[in-house]
Amino acid sequence: MKRLIVAIDGPSGAGKGTVSRALSDALGYRHVDTGAMYRAVAWKARERRAALDDEGTVAELARSSDIVVEGGAVSIDGRDVTRAIRTPEIDRAAAAVARLPRVREILVARQRALGAGGGIVMEGRDIGTVVFPEADVKIYLDASAQERARRRAADAAHTGGQAGQAAVAESIAARDESDTTRTVSPLTLAPDAVRIDTTGVPIDQVVRTVMDLVKRKSA
Ligand code: DC
Repeated sequence: MKRLIVAIDGPSGAGKGTVSRALSDALGYRHVDTGAMYRAVAWKARERRAALDDEGTVAELARSSDIVVEGGAVSIDGRDVTRAIRTPEIDRAAAAVARLPRVREILVARQRALGAGGGIVMEGRDIGTVVFPEADVKIYLDASAQERARRRAADAAHTGGQAGQAAVAESIAARDESDTTRTVSPLTLAPDAVRIDTTGVPIDQVVRTVMDLVKRKSA
């Protein structure tokens, strides 16, 4: 069977992580969460006390960093930041560094290298539009703002647990705004992506739908 490039895009809380992990497990593909790469750069920028809009400095931090996103763990320069990058502060900082064109250029090049041989499920905001416009399967997962906030608030591994649903909804809305209105690689639906609204749909059903699309392409 052909080893495909599967692109999963969409806003926060749409189910990208759960669907991507289930899919990569079932297919024996590598899973790459590109949001974790932006988060790791944001974490390092905070640690170095760099201004998050100082493009030259943040890009240099990104360029000189060894970022490993594998098997659910995230490290930067050998430091395990798996948990440290899932805080409200890093939510905001990651959205800020993701606006910087030079930072995106560096991370996009690394993402392309990771996926070059196929056999990969890559999730993010610009995978089907910018990173792999030629991806074999492009999925755009979406859900109502209310449902996405509810899921995130219930998810301790993200920013949930510590904040109520109203606070999570507010922060998701701010990030949606930042992700969709930035000038470089804003979150948009690729013309050839399949959009799946996951509002009220059990996640295993979403996984089956996506799996069917992948099987059709890899046959
Ligand atoms: O998916 P996430 O919430 O972990 O992503 C963190 C931030 O990085 C979020 O503001 C969106 C941004 N991002 C991006 O601009 N492009 C990607 N491919 C992945 C994430």
